Amino acid sequence: MIEKLADIKSKALDELSSLADFNELEVWRVRYLGKKSELTQILRGVASLSQEQRKTVGASANELRSNLEVLYSENKDALKEQAFQDVETTAKGYKDISLPGRPIPLGRLHPITQTVNEICGIFVALGFQVVEGPEVEWDYYNFEALNIPPDHPARDMWDTLWIDTESGQRPMLLRTHTSPMQIRVMEQTQPPVRVVVPGKVYRYEATDATHESMFYQLEGLAVDEYITFADLKGTLYEFAKRLFGKERRVRFRCDYFPFVEPGVEMAIDCFICGGKGCRLCSGTGWIEILGAGMVHPDVLRRVNYDPEVYTGFAFGLGLERIHMLRYGIEDIRLFYSNDLRFLRQF
Ligand code: PHE
Repeated sequence: MIEKLADIKSKALDELSSLADFNELEVWRVRYLGKKSELTQILRGVASLSQEQRKTVGASANELRSNLEVLYSENKDALKEQAFQDVETTAKGYKDISLPGRPIPLGRLHPITQTVNEICGIFVALGFQVVEGPEVEWDYYNFEALNIPPDHPARDMWDTLWIDTESGQRPMLLRTHTSPMQIRVMEQTQPPVRVVVPGKVYRYEATDATHESMFYQLEGLAVDEYITFADLKGTLYEFAKRLFGKERRVRFRCDYFPFVEPGVEMAIDCFICGGKGCRLCSGTGWIEILGAGMVHPDVLRRVNYDPEVYTGFAFGLGLERIHMLRYGIEDIRLFYSNDLRFLRQF
């Protein structure tokens, strides 16, 4: 009996060392530990042995069984791991379709792109076309054609990043606003004009919670016969209601931009406190959201539009500021620091 056990042991160990995969290990388990295995038969027969034999055979048979069980589970883990890797590399040419799938990370649009799309959508519904223009711009379009001659103090309104140019070449810059596109559009088309221009603009400015050296603006321009200040107010009021809620009220106050006359700033009543005064509106009840005005006759003349026939209005707004107001974001730098924890919220 003891010899038989030793024989089983050596065969079992022998076969175990040459197992190729998990299936073969299962066959091995049935053969040496299964109900019909020799070892199980011996264990069953122990009861009918003599007192003395029972002790020795029983003890060694039990020991062998637990040894084989330990070996089985160790090999199982190793072979499972191997099977996993085989599937990973498909070296064995099969796939374990029961393995869980890998998540495919889904991208999304940047919050500012979403805001651009939403605001353009509003103006498209009001009859505007969407156009884009260059970020590296001539001084002429960014300033001069907009009634801002060289050395005019109005240039101080825009801290400018200049491009190095050869002496004698026309001065070039990173556009400080989207307004140069007013000129480019009018140079290339005849009225009626209805365009909005989203895009990046650049300022030579220290960065803080409300300033970035790069940010987005949206320009608007409408030129036609008989366009009046009432059209400006009506269009921008409608825009404010569609973006910030139909109960919004708007306020226009005088402002100065060299390329419009008259020039205004538009504010909406604070949608947090309803005008009573709170932190968002700094206690005033109003939130300024854009600059606008009637296109200056000299600007029209420069692009060969007859100001006796055509009039128009223009407006410009900062898009990060709009997004920050709507979502209660307090730091503009969050948009451009590539922190997915922030970006994934939108
Ligand atoms: N371009 C102006 C700015 O950046 C905004 C503006 C656009 C004002 C159009 C009036 C008309 O400050």
